[in-house]
Amino acid sequence: MENNTVISIQNLIKRFPVGSEFFTALKDITLDLHKGEFTGLVGPSGSGKTTLLNIIGGLDSPTEGKVRVLNQPLNNTNHNERARLRRKYMGFIFQSYNLLPVYTVFENVELPLILNKMNKEDRIQKVNQAIEWVGLTNKRNSKPNMLSGGECQRTAIARALVHDPVLVMADEPTANLDAENSHNIMKILTKLNKELDTSFVFATHDEKIMGYLKRIIRLEDGNIVDDKKIKKENI
Ligand SMILES: Nc1ncnc2c1ncn2[C@@H]1O[C@H](COP(=O)(O)OP(=O)(O)OP(=O)(O)O)[C@@H](O)[C@H]1O
Ligand SMILES: [Mg+2]
Repeated sequence: MENNTVISIQNLIKRFPVGSEFFTALKDITLDLHKGEFTGLVGPSGSGKTTLLNIIGGLDSPTEGKVRVLNQPLNNTNHNERARLRRKYMGFIFQSYNLLPVYTVFENVELPLILNKMNKEDRIQKVNQAIEWVGLTNKRNSKPNMLSGGECQRTAIARALVHDPVLVMADEPTANLDAENSHNIMKILTKLNKELDTSFVFATHDEKIMGYLKRIIRLEDGNIVDDKKIKKENI
């Protein structure tokens, strides 16, 4: 394991109970993700992308195998400890945004910092900065039902990044967006990857995302069938 490894997965197997049987969604996955990478998990529907992403993020646990986050094993940690690691080091962006409807943009973005017990003065500064990154300063007091889809997703991105996570996971982040908004979102994430050295991992089958990726891991039927780095001269 290299010292810039963010996530290290060894011989991961994930089985789901289905009736009296088991369905094996991930078969034998060994994989390292490194600092600053911009990775896509791609492959057909049902190939295991979301399952793998959820295990990487500690939202779900493996049936067999080892997962280490920044060199700390997740296997031996209890639910609370996993939640703490997640809150501290990780950010999540979902297809359906998952914003809280009664909160404003500012309050939605502030939430991870409250959970991390940051003081109010620092919170205000971090939230304003994150909202500026995604170009929503003029919408900071709006609630989600007053926002467009692209603005909701940009709010979710600010929320995922506000606590300076090491790794951000995004599951189909552009699925509900039109082409222009999808490219805007990917440009923002590419910029943050470059400027803050934040690592990103996407689960996606959106062709528009492909062109931005620096590493593409292809899943088929619960196996990694291809893993390649893309040379980016202009990004
Ligand atoms: N909780 C569960 N119980 C049983 N089977 C599950 C469960 N979650 C996922 N699966 C199965 O595991 C396989 C992988 O699912 P997963 O959601 O990871 O696919 P995916 O690659 O993200 O697909 P999509 O592109 O459609 O989002 C699928 O066959 C799915 O039906
Ligand atoms: Mg999925």
